[in-house]
Amino acid sequence: MKTRAAVLRKAGTPWEVTELDLDEPKANEVLVRMEAAGLCHSDEHIRARGAGRLPMVGGHEGAGVVVQAGPGVTRVKVGDRVSCSYIPVCGRCRYCSTGKQNLCDAGKWAGVGCLRDETFRFHSKGEDFGGMCVVGAFSEYSVLSEYSCVKVEDYVPLEVAALVSCGVTTGFCSAVYAGDVRPGDVVVIFGTGGVGMNAVQGARYAGARHVLAIDPNEWKQHQALEFGATHAFGDPEKARDVLVDLTRGQLADTVICTVGEMSNEVLAAAVGMTGKGGTTVVTAVGGYDMSLERGGGLTGYHRRIQGSLFGGANPLHDIPMILSLWHEGHIRLPELITKRYALAEINEGYKDLMEGRNIRGVIVHQH
Ligand SMILES: NC(=O)c1ccc[n+]([C@@H]2O[C@H](COP(=O)([O-])OP(=O)(O)OC[C@H]3O[C@@H](n4cnc5c(N)ncnc54)[C@H](O)[C@@H]3O)[C@@H](O)[C@H]2O)c1
Ligand SMILES: [Zn+2]
Ligand SMILES: [Zn+2]
Repeated sequence: MKTRAAVLRKAGTPWEVTELDLDEPKANEVLVRMEAAGLCHSDEHIRARGAGRLPMVGGHEGAGVVVQAGPGVTRVKVGDRVSCSYIPVCGRCRYCSTGKQNLCDAGKWAGVGCLRDETFRFHSKGEDFGGMCVVGAFSEYSVLSEYSCVKVEDYVPLEVAALVSCGVTTGFCSAVYAGDVRPGDVVVIFGTGGVGMNAVQGARYAGARHVLAIDPNEWKQHQALEFGATHAFGDPEKARDVLVDLTRGQLADTVICTVGEMSNEVLAAAVGMTGKGGTTVVTAVGGYDMSLERGGGLTGYHRRIQGSLFGGANPLHDIPMILSLWHEGHIRLPELITKRYALAEINEGYKDLMEGRNIRGVIVHQH
């Protein structure tokens, strides 16, 4: 069949919306009619830097409806509404079977975008196209491994199901799992965009006493207060002064880095605000120098720098769990969507993200 998709052929060029050929699903694969796709910052990293194999269909934060199932599919069936876990989850590898689904071995081809048999389903003029994180949500239709599919209840709008496919779950779980936030804790969050805003929600839901949000964008500071931050700052120095006052110098239990682009400056400031025995969580992507440690503060304060992939989530459990938290009124999800776009407006959507106008932009596919 034919499908329209936003593709990247070369790093540093804009998304190009084009028509591709799409194969039928093979064994253990499904054809999904994508309904909504979130504009996560990670696609922008790929677009700007071209990490991974190109050409690639963008989009790893998506939701849609299963319209065809290949042989042997058991996890979902035709007609199911699914959120696409951006890490496929096999359920039986060493990592899945020890409660670390975010590290599933099936995530091996995320940067290549091929299916498990190492072949591709998107093609154009003899060329194979991967799908970002084996999802390819910036396509009207995509063929996914059943391992990428998490069935969602009928009450969940598919644009909300798209949000939990990456950003919401990553942010929320960066606080509650990677950051191990406990009742009464003091938490600092650097960067309250689509991911960080949910670190705010996760930290509050886990019972944090104070949640200090730091973001240079004034509108995001106001939004962070709406989503549960107790304080919001543009300047990390001011945040540090208040943190020292609030904790009598003990600093934060957990500091979470969800800035657009990770840097030495953010890492140094974040570690410097982490208290004794505390955790600095690095969820943001970008280049930084791990040799920053000079004063002995990491060892002497028994601090931990914790990398965070999907926040340490188990998508098969946590995606439905977070949707239930929203359904039962504990967290806010539709409010994260600032603007909706047609597929053809994708570059405008990313311009809005990079210029600070969106918490989350969402592509609504038109069928
Ligand atoms: N590890 C994972 O599993 C995972 C998953 C999704 C996204 N990510 C990464 O997380 C990061 C955030 O993604 P997003 O979609 O929320 O991006 P976003 O652009 O929506 O949000 C980033 C926020 O950081 C703010 N910011 C920029 N510089 C800052 C600074 N020096 N101090 C404080 N705030 C600053 C921006 O104003 C913006 O509000 C990206 O690097 C993305 O690639 C990682
Ligand atoms: Zn993402
Ligand atoms: Zn697995």
